[in-house]
Amino acid sequence: MAKSPVTFSCTACGATYNKWSGRCDACGEWNTIQQDKGISSGPPSKSLGTRRGAAMVLTDLTTKDTPPPRSQSGIAELDRVLGGGLVPSSAILVGGDPGIGKSTLLLQAAAHFARSGLKTIYVSGEEASAQVRMRAQRLGLSDASVQLAAETNLRDILTTLEEVKPDLVIIDSIQTMWADNVDSAPGSVSQVRAAAHELTSFAKRRGVSVILVGHVTKDGQIAGPRVVEHMVDTVLYFEGERGHQFRILRAVKNRFGPADEIGVFEMTGEGLAEVTNPSALFLSERGTPAAGSVVFAGIEGTRPVLCELQALVAPSPHSQARRTVVGWDGGRLAMILAVLEARCGIPFAGLDVYLNVAGGMKISEPAADLAVAAALLSAREDVALPAETVVFGEISLSGALRPASQTENRLKEAQKLGFTSAIAPAGGKPVGKNGITLNTMSDLTGFVGEIFGAG
Ligand code: TYD
Ligand code: MG
Repeated sequence: MAKSPVTFSCTACGATYNKWSGRCDACGEWNTIQQDKGISSGPPSKSLGTRRGAAMVLTDLTTKDTPPPRSQSGIAELDRVLGGGLVPSSAILVGGDPGIGKSTLLLQAAAHFARSGLKTIYVSGEEASAQVRMRAQRLGLSDASVQLAAETNLRDILTTLEEVKPDLVIIDSIQTMWADNVDSAPGSVSQVRAAAHELTSFAKRRGVSVILVGHVTKDGQIAGPRVVEHMVDTVLYFEGERGHQFRILRAVKNRFGPADEIGVFEMTGEGLAEVTNPSALFLSERGTPAAGSVVFAGIEGTRPVLCELQALVAPSPHSQARRTVVGWDGGRLAMILAVLEARCGIPFAGLDVYLNVAGGMKISEPAADLAVAAALLSAREDVALPAETVVFGEISLSGALRPASQTENRLKEAQKLGFTSAIAPAGGKPVGKNGITLNTMSDLTGFVGEIFGAG
């Protein structure tokens, strides 16, 4: 019999290799590559099955075959991130750092889905049922008819699920699940993959929705959630800074709705509370207008969100000046600095640059470019921007400003929060009157001249 080839996988991103190496070429992590252990027992594979995979013409699918509508949890922030509610037979991954609040969120979601009529089972591989019940009691959810199970053996879980026939299964966490036909320790890439595969195919076969919890891991011993991202329909990440109350649930992949949608929560003594007006929350810590502080009018998914960017520019005592970014892309910061230097003649050499998005928010929109440039210049010149002003727009390498999408929505949100003027690129769709003075500019040099009186 041919010997199956030895393969290796990265525990951080799941990339496979045919030999070991110290560093993963795909994600750049060190010491994350481990040998895969094959499936040692289990049912023999059939060479040719007697059952056929039935194919169907798209137009033959009648309304009878269309799945029932989405179920809403009633937690609006969660339903929005899911693309409008839970799709039947879907597989969802919720990733996040340990202790960020995944179990809390999903226990609350389980109770809400159960109250809205879904038969829900919460399988914990980390806590005993009594501990989960205690947590539910503390969160005021003990009246919800969620079934609890404390189990890690995949075979036993699937047997239970066949009996219970739930509508929704929550597995907390996928790294604790153990398939007895896979010859490696729980948490290894092979185990996590096998468990995720079994559970997602069970979900599709039986019309059950399954939510898998995955801890983001740093040490490489335990496979991270990225290993199963491609197997599920929807990937959500629960983010936030430990020191902050805010938690952001972000859709990074969604087969049933827009990606990049966010839900904002606040961790309280009674669990996670929804934040229906994130802009107000992100701006709540803003004091009097200071140099280096700029309010960016952004769009997250389908809604506008305002947040504060803070920059600090100071002479560097080091031979190589520091560039430190929290909540934005470091490469993009380097680009903005280069454009400011090359197109506007404003050098940052010999200066340390720190950029922070307040409130633990992460921004990926290119429309933040102009707000970043404004914060950097304001910090460098020690001049505060005009009060009650929001800024947005993309900067191209030539120094030209490109109009951002959804200008009208951004302005409306700014007006709602009491801002009176906005700086944005010229061009783009004309916007209606909305009580905001719109100051448009076509290039970065013009912006620098007008706002900072220099070129
Ligand atoms: P948890 O949901 O257990 O995190 P995860 O499953 O992602 O590892 O949340 C753990 C943290 O949340 C813990 O530090 C305590 C805090 N917490 C609250 O502040 N309030 C609450 O009501 C609950 C249940 C947890
Ligand atoms: Mg947990």
